[in-house]
Amino acid sequence: MTFIWPPLHPWGEFVAPFYTLILFKRIKMKIGIASDHGGFELKRMLISRLSVMNHILVDFGNYQYDSGDDYPDYVIPLARSVANGEVERGIAVCGSGVGASIAANKIEGARAALITDHFAAHQGVEDDAMNIICLGGRITGVETAMELVLAFLNAKFSRGDRHIRRIRKADPAGTKLLD
Ligand code: RB5
Repeated sequence: MTFIWPPLHPWGEFVAPFYTLILFKRIKMKIGIASDHGGFELKRMLISRLSVMNHILVDFGNYQYDSGDDYPDYVIPLARSVANGEVERGIAVCGSGVGASIAANKIEGARAALITDHFAAHQGVEDDAMNIICLGGRITGVETAMELVLAFLNAKFSRGDRHIRRIRKADPAGTKLLD
């Protein structure tokens, strides 16, 4: 796991809290991000854009392009981290976004979805407490991806009784962070 918070300094992990104090900037959100080779380039661009927006980014890999790598090796650790609250939200990128979403949803408490439109990017959080957005690096360009990610990050779960009831029916053991 690599801690990336801006600026992209070789000692970023060590100096990031001091930058925060000095700049009096409120850290917005701790976000985990992961990809295989199919999502590697989009992940790299998302990290570069999100890291200057005052978010803390934790990269679960892969850390270099490897055409033989497997998305579960990065997405499952990300999903575990989201489910146990170590990071608040997750971004998982593979070639289509499908494999990432299937893998992430195997983890109790991870609520992941492949997102390609703006409405689903925020309504998935508001109604369904989606906590991992999955993107296809071979499908969604960086500008659209950023709009989807920002809609996802800015949305909040409504905490409506009917929504909690539905989420519990789908994942009874995985809703502890909703309480
Ligand atoms: C890898 O080539 C590709 O299959 C993977 O990134 C993803 O698209 C799976 O859903």
